[in-house]
Amino acid sequence: MPTRNTIILAAGKGTRMKSKVYKVLHRICGKTMVDHVLTQVEKTNMDNIVTVVGYGAEAVEENIGDRAKFVVQKEQLGTGHAVMQAEDLLGNLDGTTMIVSGDTPLFTAETFEKLFEYHENEKAAVTILTSKAPDPTGYGRIVRNDLGIVEKIVEQKDANEIEQAIDEINTGVYVFDNKSLFSALHKTNNDNAQGEYYLTDVIEILKSEDKIVAAYEMDDFDESMGVNDRVALSKATKIMQKRINEMHMRNGISMVNPEDTYIDVDVKIGSDTIIEAGVSIKGKTTIGEDCFIGSNSEIRDSVIKNNVTVTSSMIEESEMGDGSNIGPDSHLRPQSKIGKNVHIGNFCEVKKAEIGEGTKVGHLTYVGDATLGKNINVGCGVVFVNYDGANKFHTNVGDDTFIGSNSNLVAPLEIADHSFIAAGSTITKDVEQFDMAIARERQTNKPGYFKKLNYKNN
Ligand code: UD1
Ligand code: CA
Repeated sequence: MPTRNTIILAAGKGTRMKSKVYKVLHRICGKTMVDHVLTQVEKTNMDNIVTVVGYGAEAVEENIGDRAKFVVQKEQLGTGHAVMQAEDLLGNLDGTTMIVSGDTPLFTAETFEKLFEYHENEKAAVTILTSKAPDPTGYGRIVRNDLGIVEKIVEQKDANEIEQAIDEINTGVYVFDNKSLFSALHKTNNDNAQGEYYLTDVIEILKSEDKIVAAYEMDDFDESMGVNDRVALSKATKIMQKRINEMHMRNGISMVNPEDTYIDVDVKIGSDTIIEAGVSIKGKTTIGEDCFIGSNSEIRDSVIKNNVTVTSSMIEESEMGDGSNIGPDSHLRPQSKIGKNVHIGNFCEVKKAEIGEGTKVGHLTYVGDATLGKNINVGCGVVFVNYDGANKFHTNVGDDTFIGSNSNLVAPLEIADHSFIAAGSTITKDVEQFDMAIARERQTNKPGYFKKLNYKNN
């Protein structure tokens, strides 16, 4: 049975990135480059996916998990040598093997499928995926003869002046007849400018064996972009971002300024949601329908239900229920669960707290380690005092209570439903149903005292 296999090359250090992070682990729109490549490969029905790892092998394996098999390239002796490391796993198989680099994150599954199709129609031993680059510097060049037939690939560093002027580049993606690939790799050497075993040399070797070498030129150079440094990383991010934003807009989401809207690749958004400029939506966030996400908001790994308004606020690992709203300038820290129709106003911080339906937390308030019921009114400047310097404690507040402005609720506390906390109280004891708690000094007025004071308002 012929098999379909893919080898992803991801062993290089990525010296040109000047980074502590291995190249293929740099992120674009929330996902590592190698994960982007793998995600597209996974859509194309492979029997085997093998990733060649070397530098940062453990980190790369952890990033990818059991989605691929791994082989280790101990020394980075070149792309040809890297592919050789997969010989034990794949060498004996009949079928076709695609090779992709872990640093070309913009390829789509559709392009891979077209390449396979072209390769099968041409009955070739190898089909190179090529494209015309506006600036081919740094890429391997496709050298064709007078008849337009591919002769070889020449690397930038080995290219003469005429070859350097060629604008058709090797995208680093190829489909090979599997057995021809491995037998040709045994014939490569490292006699070149970089002293490496080039995968690209296999082309000339296959030609010399009179095998068919085909090239499939794709239209969109952007999709083939290889990321070798931070400048290319930012370009690739921009292209990916545009793709993501256009996909959402086509699905019925409005963006006021998509050039300044940053949405990670796995984010889901419902129709008729409006997103203003400067918004970042990260990680595994889901946003419902008919929401309004105001300018400069940042939302990460959260669930925002339908009809929610977020105004210039930050939301992390939290949930906002239907019809709720927050902001401007508030912050939901991890594990906050905001119920239906809850109002969180400005300058509020909520952490690890559940807030029940219809409750209002209007202004300048900290709610941490607490469970609040329904229809509570939390006044201005309330502090849930959850920390004694050593431990965190929890507060429960029942339904329909009123927490007066500038109260401190010193945890642990049970505030029963239908109770009332007078403004300015520091509450340290539980409050029973229907009680009013007041915990502050009584006011004394001293008649005529103003005149004794030396008060001047100059
Ligand atoms: C490579 C191609 C070049 C092509 C370009 C497309 C070769 C010799 N050159 O050049 O023709 O235009 O990609 O982007 O193949 N790697 C290993 N082990 C190694 C060396 C590299 O796993 O020993 C991996 C790297 O991690 C990377 C990929 O192979 O993911 C490509 O290597 P890189 O050094 O980036 O090659 P380029 O110079 O970009
Ligand atoms: Ca590269």
